[in-house]
Amino acid sequence: MPQQGEIALLPLLLLLCFFSPQVNGARFSRLGINYGTLGDNLPSHARSVARIRSIGAGAVKIYDANPDILRALAGTRLRVSIMVPNEIIPTLGTNASRADAWVATYLVPFYPAVRICYLLVGNEILSFTSLANSTWPLLVPAMANVYRALKARSIRDVKVSTTLAMDTLATVFPPSDGTFRADIAGPVMRPLLSFLSKTHSYYFVDAYPYFFWASNPSTIRLDYALFAADAKYSYVDPGSRLTYTNLFDQMLDAVAMAMGRLGYRHIPIAVAETGWPNGGDLDQIGANVHNAAIYNRNLARRMAARPAVGTPARPGVAMPVFIFALYNENQKGGPGTERHWGLLYPNGTRVYEVDLSGRRPLETYGPLPPPENNERYEGPIWCVFGGGGNATSVGAAVAYACAQAKGACDAIRRGAPCYEPNTLAAHASYAFNSYWQRFRGAGATCFFGGLAVQTKINPSYGSCKFPTSTLEFDCMLLLTDPPLLLFSVEFQTSSNV
Ligand SMILES: *[C@@H]1O[C@H](CO)[C@@H](O)[C@H](O)[C@H]1NC(C)=O
Ligand SMILES: *[C@@H]1O[C@H](CO)[C@@H](O)[C@H](O)[C@H]1NC(C)=O
Ligand SMILES: *[C@@H]1O[C@H](CO)[C@@H](O)[C@H](O)[C@H]1NC(C)=O
Ligand SMILES: *[C@@H]1O[C@H](CO)[C@@H](O)[C@H](O)[C@H]1NC(C)=O
Repeated sequence: MPQQGEIALLPLLLLLCFFSPQVNGARFSRLGINYGTLGDNLPSHARSVARIRSIGAGAVKIYDANPDILRALAGTRLRVSIMVPNEIIPTLGTNASRADAWVATYLVPFYPAVRICYLLVGNEILSFTSLANSTWPLLVPAMANVYRALKARSIRDVKVSTTLAMDTLATVFPPSDGTFRADIAGPVMRPLLSFLSKTHSYYFVDAYPYFFWASNPSTIRLDYALFAADAKYSYVDPGSRLTYTNLFDQMLDAVAMAMGRLGYRHIPIAVAETGWPNGGDLDQIGANVHNAAIYNRNLARRMAARPAVGTPARPGVAMPVFIFALYNENQKGGPGTERHWGLLYPNGTRVYEVDLSGRRPLETYGPLPPPENNERYEGPIWCVFGGGGNATSVGAAVAYACAQAKGACDAIRRGAPCYEPNTLAAHASYAFNSYWQRFRGAGATCFFGGLAVQTKINPSYGSCKFPTSTLEFDCMLLLTDPPLLLFSVEFQTSSNV
């Protein structure tokens, strides 16, 4: 963070993005929104930007430097964060002139008409071990090259960072034990934190209490995850003696502690993504409109409080926070929750009311639909064709499903019990279900690019039997003692990569 004396020397324009949070907490009082675009039914960027403004967001984060989106953002007061795609990190890290060319092509034409505040180099790259050799070592060099390119062009009010999932931590509980993973602590985190410290930038974290709670619903209270716990359920960290009233603070303080352990106590934290899904698959717990509204409303209230609340380890510190996401995005792969993070449906209707300025008192909101899945559904589920697609796309999906396991589609061969009715739709249902039941335990999802849906209704008929399976949830759920030592793979699919 700049000292106040330095701020006084900067041209007025730079003040737009450059205040330290403690100096002027009001800057971050409006929540930001992640504008993900993985949907085939989303409106134009201009219309989306109008919606971002109409829901009261103060900032927006976009997943690449899409010139059409940037044009739509020009002239708005929205603070803008732009992500640099993972794929080009090696190039930017090895070749400074390519970093400069990136800045020249994607940033300069829109600056300062677009109020660009953060360039985020890469999205959760430390969650992908497939990138360990090719990309991790080049993350900080890429950030440094981008930073130098900005400086060379006298752009000083755009901060450079990267977004990281919670799985950079090996230990998150209790927060005072927060520790980075051994494989990245030395080679990546140390140079990264040094860079962030020297450039007065932020550690951007994707922090989803939902995933922690959903993986441990019997050990974590739901209301603790929703910022709604009674004070008697607060948690005292035995290491720090700090008192926690919610899961979000616990997670952020674990990050703060991990940074402190490497000698960087003062790097500010920004929350690049957080939120709560408004729907999901039949076997996903707690993903509903009721909980999503409560989480985001409470988050907005908390972040708007002045003086800033901060976290127990960093009391009084305001921080930028971006909710995920603007829309429900129907083309995101993975479990059903992935397609249900939006504050809006693609048609612009609000999924639920939430005032991102945080000024609206909670009791003034209308009633919410009751939460229908706060207990996990453990009955049988089948995965069937849900309509849509065309003969080519459905046929390809069936071929894929049948090819994944020997014998998976024997029952739909000519003469076999599920051959009739001999329609693509009927065969797709059998094939999707057969595939999903076999690979469900290994994390396969019932999606097939949007062609498949889950059902509680047994689709078997006559002698055609659709298999089903039940999951040993306890095996998947990483129940550990103490809880929260491990992370679900869901973190890796939690964002638009
Ligand atoms: C860096 O990129 C520039 C522009 O693409 C290219 O001309 C140059 O050869 C590259 N340098 C190295 C060392 O790869
Ligand atoms: C990375 O390099 C190490 C050592 O050379 C090797 O063992 C490992 O398989 C590589 N990982 C990937 C994902 O390429
Ligand atoms: C928008 O879409 C949602 C979800 O599909 C639907 O419930 C709602 O009625 C739609 N609103 C309008 C105005 O079409
Ligand atoms: C079928 O759907 C796929 C995927 O949506 C599309 O790319 C393709 O053009 C469609 N083919 C026909 C014949 O409509």
